[in-house]
Amino acid sequence: MSWLAFIGLAVILYYIVYLILWIVCDGNVWLIYKEHFGKPIAELRKNVVWITGASSGIGRALALQLAQEGALLILSARREKELEEVKAECIRKSNGKLHEEDVFVMPMDMLKIEDHQKCLDRVLEKFGRLDILVNNAGRSQRANWEDIELKVDRDLFELDVFSVVHLSRVVVRYFLKRDLNARGHIAVTSSVAGFAIAPFSASYCGAKHAVNAYMNALRVEHRNIDVTIFAPGPIATDFLQEAFTARHNEKVGLSTKNQKRMTAERCGKLFAVALANKMMFVWCGLFPVNVLAYVARSPILSHIVFLLLNEKALNKIREGKL
Ligand SMILES: NC(=O)c1ccc[n+]([C@@H]2O[C@H](COP(=O)([O-])OP(=O)(O)OC[C@H]3O[C@@H](n4cnc5c(N)ncnc54)[C@H](OP(=O)(O)O)[C@@H]3O)[C@@H](O)[C@H]2O)c1
Repeated sequence: MSWLAFIGLAVILYYIVYLILWIVCDGNVWLIYKEHFGKPIAELRKNVVWITGASSGIGRALALQLAQEGALLILSARREKELEEVKAECIRKSNGKLHEEDVFVMPMDMLKIEDHQKCLDRVLEKFGRLDILVNNAGRSQRANWEDIELKVDRDLFELDVFSVVHLSRVVVRYFLKRDLNARGHIAVTSSVAGFAIAPFSASYCGAKHAVNAYMNALRVEHRNIDVTIFAPGPIATDFLQEAFTARHNEKVGLSTKNQKRMTAERCGKLFAVALANKMMFVWCGLFPVNVLAYVARSPILSHIVFLLLNEKALNKIREGKL
């Protein structure tokens, strides 16, 4: 066999293996590689991690995962009772690594921008420092593109973009003021809808694309701040209850039961892997979402999918019905 034929065969084999990995993995290949061969989540032991949206779903699952490895936690959201329950579960799951004083319940409404600095001050008063901010609080959407009231676009951006950007700025200013050698870490729960085609969620897609761009801009300007964009596909949480519709002050109010979705626990674990390994941009999702996420990264492949699958088929995939 000539050298040229050998190289050609090796390239073909590489792509075949890569394609199989797209199908069998429930996250991008690099993330799954790091799960098995990267730094363990235990690297985050004693790190001070502030999670917004920790009262349910992905935020709660991430908190439990980090608690098992002994990270010190600040749990924020609006529902205090749920946060207290998550705290109790964190301490129980930590197997003696965490005690009452290691998990701080700090209720906050992300939309009250004027409170963000006070909340950071409370964190610093409690733990003396902050290592990682996880901007996870957010709401999704189900609506036809043409029906969306502008007020809904604005409300969704207030929560999923502006509150995230503002809280991150408050924390970044703190990171920049402290010891020059100390690194800071900002993470955000984005979405596959933040880089792929997702029908019937126009404001949400816009918001998650925007938040990705803000975070990428931060990464470019401050090399001593790690930025993790974590983009889940469909996850089994209660998010559809709270999701925006096309109309102001209306919620979808549906359950995700009986839909094929990744569990919040698995998502929380992969999020923790991404944090421990300071990964820049990762995603997760069950087949075929994981494959579509790869496809979306290529303009040619995403155009082919656009031609092959109409909005109803894409929505079925997205709702875990295909
Ligand atoms: N589930 C999915 O399929 C999926 C996929 C991709 C991305 N995501 C993203 O994942 C993140 C978490 O969603 P989830 O699926 O875990 O849904 P969830 O269970 O509904 O969690 C949303 C969290 O955000 C908090 N929150 C909402 N509004 C808030 C506000 N004004 N101030 C403070 N906290 C607020 C909620 O707590 P309180 O109600 O107690 O305030 C709750 O803890 C969101 O950013 C979402 O866009 C979810």
